[in-house]
Amino acid sequence: MISEKIPATAIVPGSFDPMTVGHLDIVRRAAKAYEKVYLAVLINPSKEYLFDMETRKKIAEASVSDIENVTVVSDKGMLTDLARRLSCRYIVKGIRNEADLEYEREMALYNKNAAPEIETVLLPCDAGLSDVSSSRVRELLAAGETEELKKLLPAGALEIVLDAKK
Ligand code: PNS
Repeated sequence: MISEKIPATAIVPGSFDPMTVGHLDIVRRAAKAYEKVYLAVLINPSKEYLFDMETRKKIAEASVSDIENVTVVSDKGMLTDLARRLSCRYIVKGIRNEADLEYEREMALYNKNAAPEIETVLLPCDAGLSDVSSSRVRELLAAGETEELKKLLPAGALEIVLDAKK
């Protein structure tokens, strides 16, 4: 078992509306690979959010509380500005399918242009997590399907999600 970490800081950005077990898997893998990881709750201007930023951050914090080298931050500005402020060398994102790959490729190009010294690393999601999405969580919430929700949300997140939705 190789336990050595890359001596660099990575940032895992996203909307996290809300954080799912799919996101958590990516953050865990990033935390195994890099010495320090920031989970950044940001704003995607093309989305309307169910949860406000403070709640999205709270859910993310509850989800990663057992991972010692992960810190949750939130920001309303540009990802590359934040990554530079936090001295991040890598942006890490997960991809589930072709559509994600296309979207992330575009974002990576945009971010590379804005900050050439920061590399984007795309991690394919683990088998079994390709159907997990925040939008599925929001659908289940609207339908009141709490049992299925438990499978998609990290431990510690469910209570906050249900509370915030009341
Ligand atoms: O989970 P998402 O919605 O795919 O995450 C997208 C996000 C929030 C990471 C992206 O929209 C973002 O980086 N927003 C911050 C503003 C910014 O830097 N925009 C330019 C990058 S495309």
